Amino acid sequence: MSLLSALSIVCGLMLHVSFSALNTHYCVPRKTVPFQNGLRLFREEGIFNYSTMLMSDDLGVLLLGAREAIYAVDINNISVRKAVVYWRVTEEKQRECKSKGKLAEVECRNYIRTLHRVNDTTMYVCGTNAFSPTCDYLTFANGQLRLEGKQEEGKGKCPFDPFQRYSSLMVGNDLYSATSINFLGSEPVVLRSSDLALRTEFKSSWLSEPNFVYMDLVAESLDSPDGDDDKVYLFFSENAMEYDFYSKVAVSRVARVCKGDMGGQRTLQRKWTSFLKARLDCSFPEPSLPPIVQDVFLLKHQDWRKSVFYAVFTPQSGLSQISAVCAYSVSAIQDIFNEGKFKTPVAVETSHVKWVMYTGEVPVPRPGACINKVARKLGMNRSLDLPDKTLQFIRDRPLMDEAVRPLTGRPLLVKRGALLTHIVVDSVLALDRQRYDVMFVGTANGYVQKAVNYAGEMFIIEEIQLYESPVSISTLRLSSSKGQLYAGSEFGAVQMPVSNCSRYNTCVDCILARDPYCAWDLTTEQCSSIDSLPSSSNTAVQSLKEADVSQCPQPDPVAAVDIALVPENNIQLPCQLHSNLAQVLWLFSDQTLHSNNKYYIYSGGLLILSASESDAGLYTCDSVEQISGRTYNRTVAVYRLQLYSGPGVGGSTTPRNVVTNSSDSIHGLTTATPGPKPGLGNEDPLSPQNQKDTGKVIHLEVAVALLSLLCLSMMGVMFWIWSRGHWECLKLAQRSSESEGKRQSAEYMHIPNRTSEIKLLGPELRRPCSANNNHCAVDFKGNGEHHFTPMANISSLDGLGYINDESEI
Ligand SMILES: *[C@@H]1O[C@H](CO)[C@@H](O)[C@H](O)[C@H]1NC(C)=O
Ligand SMILES: *[C@@H]1O[C@H](CO)[C@@H](O)[C@H](O)[C@H]1NC(C)=O
Ligand SMILES: *[C@@H]1O[C@H](CO)[C@@H](O)[C@H](O)[C@H]1NC(C)=O
Ligand SMILES: *[C@@H]1O[C@H](CO)[C@@H](O)[C@H](O)[C@H]1NC(C)=O
Ligand SMILES: *[C@@H]1O[C@H](CO)[C@@H](O)[C@H](O)[C@H]1NC(C)=O
Repeated sequence: MSLLSALSIVCGLMLHVSFSALNTHYCVPRKTVPFQNGLRLFREEGIFNYSTMLMSDDLGVLLLGAREAIYAVDINNISVRKAVVYWRVTEEKQRECKSKGKLAEVECRNYIRTLHRVNDTTMYVCGTNAFSPTCDYLTFANGQLRLEGKQEEGKGKCPFDPFQRYSSLMVGNDLYSATSINFLGSEPVVLRSSDLALRTEFKSSWLSEPNFVYMDLVAESLDSPDGDDDKVYLFFSENAMEYDFYSKVAVSRVARVCKGDMGGQRTLQRKWTSFLKARLDCSFPEPSLPPIVQDVFLLKHQDWRKSVFYAVFTPQSGLSQISAVCAYSVSAIQDIFNEGKFKTPVAVETSHVKWVMYTGEVPVPRPGACINKVARKLGMNRSLDLPDKTLQFIRDRPLMDEAVRPLTGRPLLVKRGALLTHIVVDSVLALDRQRYDVMFVGTANGYVQKAVNYAGEMFIIEEIQLYESPVSISTLRLSSSKGQLYAGSEFGAVQMPVSNCSRYNTCVDCILARDPYCAWDLTTEQCSSIDSLPSSSNTAVQSLKEADVSQCPQPDPVAAVDIALVPENNIQLPCQLHSNLAQVLWLFSDQTLHSNNKYYIYSGGLLILSASESDAGLYTCDSVEQISGRTYNRTVAVYRLQLYSGPGVGGSTTPRNVVTNSSDSIHGLTTATPGPKPGLGNEDPLSPQNQKDTGKVIHLEVAVALLSLLCLSMMGVMFWIWSRGHWECLKLAQRSSESEGKRQSAEYMHIPNRTSEIKLLGPELRRPCSANNNHCAVDFKGNGEHHFTPMANISSLDGLGYINDESEI
């Protein structure tokens, strides 16, 4: 039995070794910050679905919408609840909802989905209210939250179905919402609730089973030479109309409407005259169906033309585990809507419609344009004045021909593993006076990835585990001024600082972290937040793009720790690397050690099996890290093994742990061990227990064979997974080094006929980690990355003494 467990440990160690050796690419977060109890969390017993957030910096609170409750929590410490108001469904409503076939305890509840600021003291709030959406006004005054009781119909402003994606935006007193307007969820609408309410035409060419994810306003009227209007941008996915497929294929879209739209006079009465949409392109490294947009964040710039939408995409088919972030400049989107060609439907065969580029004449004023100087010159001051020709054109052709391409032509981040769900982006002014956009991306398993794209190079600084259990991050908000991030989930809301520089202890570590928020302060000798540095300070070191550590002071040589070598014992030399991207290099008297039947190298250190006198000498553990094309080599630990020649060798009172600190004198029998505590295998090979076990040898040999097979096949699988991941990152790296020229990237873009659908699906089906593929049983870390969790910790290695007995037979 002991041999079995020992073997499985060895197998685990070997797997781990093969993994740490392979783990050298950038899709892996450099640092993993596991869940800490110190995180500030808000939750109330019995309340779930903390999915809506409204930041009120001026009131000092974060408003949190959950199921049947709204909270005002302290923006500096969300664990501090300032006020709460409950908004429960009435029994009658719940009964009504249940009688329509909905689940009483899940669907027939009131999920707060809309929270917007109206003025200094008043908010507008809507809830699903047992499939009967309702809105009300909410005030926060004198430390109290109060619903005004002025309930309004919420149809079209808030979804009926709590599981449906939805988006809304308050502009002045107008509420823009994108949701379904009926109980069945079959009638999608983009609605403006105002004195002059406007909505989309109910036609599949406008919206076809959409999933709305995000809306925001861009104030394009500012310094507009064309006298243009402000616009509301909307991101969603819907059924494609531009591809020929047997089955439905979804695409991601950006659409926009003009703030000043008033609808048409005869055509498009009370409907948008400015609803235009275009496909969003974000090409994954492997050919795939178009990816689906999941969340968007608008990084605002003073000059709105330089504002950028950051969007998270996940695969359309559940087989793949890759997600990506693509960014789109407002001006690129604007160019397509203002100058691009339209698509138009043409009938081919019977009852089959194909959408192709429209090449005919385009009416003036341009269809879908806001009222601008051109229109005003023609005497048209309002959309009501637009001619029927323009309106009919846009009613029938809301789709642009060209797709919006991402800023650098490719994703800023591609990650394999748990899917990305939500994103916020902070623009950070670094010590080099440049701004870096730091992406915080929530995942489906409760992590936040903090990433930067350094001139084409994707770099995940760290991944932070916010929830102990793998729950999906369902909202993410950023307060740049407070330097805080807020993440909601089904079970609560968590607050985390945008950075924690004190995680990095040494100058080299601080520089290699490449965190724009952090710099090494040479005077205090600490990795500090750049905001906390005195502005005149020129004693801080930061090197983001190059990760150049040459300005760091020469580190003190690592002091050697003395270890007593007791012949035939197993010796463990701990060594913990600081980075997931680093590989370990063990040297013994300047010779590189490799894992074999004598040495086991794993993430926690080195294991010397059944040590002999010849193993005495100096062992160094180096961390080798490739960053930005350079290799950084640094020594993490040094051990000096010395033959122990004290009394009682082999006896049960043998001293096993003899440690000194950086001097040659052996104190002997020390229990207070400075520095990392070396553990020794304390199984005594001479004990009678070991000798009476030989009868089990035959059985064990079979087990050994089986385990080795299993071990080998697991390694094979993992190598396969790795090589795929590696291939992808190499390819990406290659791409980064290519010229920035326009690349025709989307493999799925021009499918001439239906047979190609099969070709397209091919690679999807060959993905290594599909849901029903038990290769996934390999122990991935919570975030789905290719780490291997050590099967054994230091104390459980005791049984290894047996192995030597076996190998002698
Ligand atoms: C936040 O508030 C909680 C609850 O009042 C308190 O226990 C905790 O110490 C506070 N944390 C900080 C960092 O102020
Ligand atoms: C805020 O808006 C509400 C609702 O529209 C209104 O009743 C209230 O008078 C407004 N308050 C202020 C201070 O403008
Ligand atoms: C709300 O949370 C509960 C409890 O985790 C979960 O079962 C339910 O699916 C959630 N509802 C929505 C709409 O997300
Ligand atoms: C449009 O506005 C201009 C200037 O405000 C005005 O002179 C003109 O009469 C208006 N035209 C219409 C058709 O209302
Ligand atoms: C920052 O990191 C240090 C070291 O890991 C930890 O002790 C501290 O609690 C963290 N601070 C915050 C605010 O998370």
